[in-house]
Amino acid sequence: MSTQIIAHRGASKLAPENTLPAFQLAYELGAEGIETDVQLTKDQIPVLMHDEGLKRTTNGYGYLKDYTYKELKQLDAGSWFSSSFTGTKLLSLEELLSWIKDKPLYLNIELKNNKIDYTNLEKIVYTMLNDYQLLNRTTLSTFNPKSIKRMKKLDKQIESALLTSRRRKDLVTYAKSLGASAIHVKYRLLSRKLVDNCQREGIAIRIYTVNKALRIKRCFNLNCDGIFTDVPGDAHHIKLGGSK
Ligand code: G3P
Ligand code: MG
Repeated sequence: MSTQIIAHRGASKLAPENTLPAFQLAYELGAEGIETDVQLTKDQIPVLMHDEGLKRTTNGYGYLKDYTYKELKQLDAGSWFSSSFTGTKLLSLEELLSWIKDKPLYLNIELKNNKIDYTNLEKIVYTMLNDYQLLNRTTLSTFNPKSIKRMKKLDKQIESALLTSRRRKDLVTYAKSLGASAIHVKYRLLSRKLVDNCQREGIAIRIYTVNKALRIKRCFNLNCDGIFTDVPGDAHHIKLGGSK
């Protein structure tokens, strides 16, 4: 199978990350999958945001976890990016799932539980994916090894991925020992040896965040399973044989 083009937080170079316009644009530009980051509100609703704090990508302040879903929905999650996105709202996981349901897209939900280890995040996300019958095309990823173990307890079949930016010799066997079915690694860790090792051990390898044409091509040539990119349109063009 060819390397999957996964839009990192949506088409996040062209639209505010993790919002509906970013996901819609990614789909229109030829992304084959969507990556997003999920956290829990004060009232335990899974919502899509990368940072634990609200400051960078909304007009709010403080921590996301300290606000209810209703409060967070009042915020503007678009104008920080450009005035043309003023009024764009933060998205819940459920809203994303109902949007993606009828589209032929792979989904990667990154559980943002390495700094704040949200109780029950795995269970809440898993249950929702199950309700939407999307488990068969979704990978749950995390930087938190304990979270992979918790996912496997919920369901042995769950597609999980260990995220890392750290080099370690036994990375592939370590990820397998946790029960992960994939590793999602920072671009600088990429080597032919690592890809071969993953293929031999039967686990997938996806690379983040790959935006430059030469790097995108290298991932394609090495037959990585997927790339996370802020520029899915460029990657799509490269896949079709154009230079960019
Ligand atoms: O899931 C790949 C990538 O998103 C991991 O890092 O910080 O962009 O969420 P980050
Ligand atoms: Mg992410």
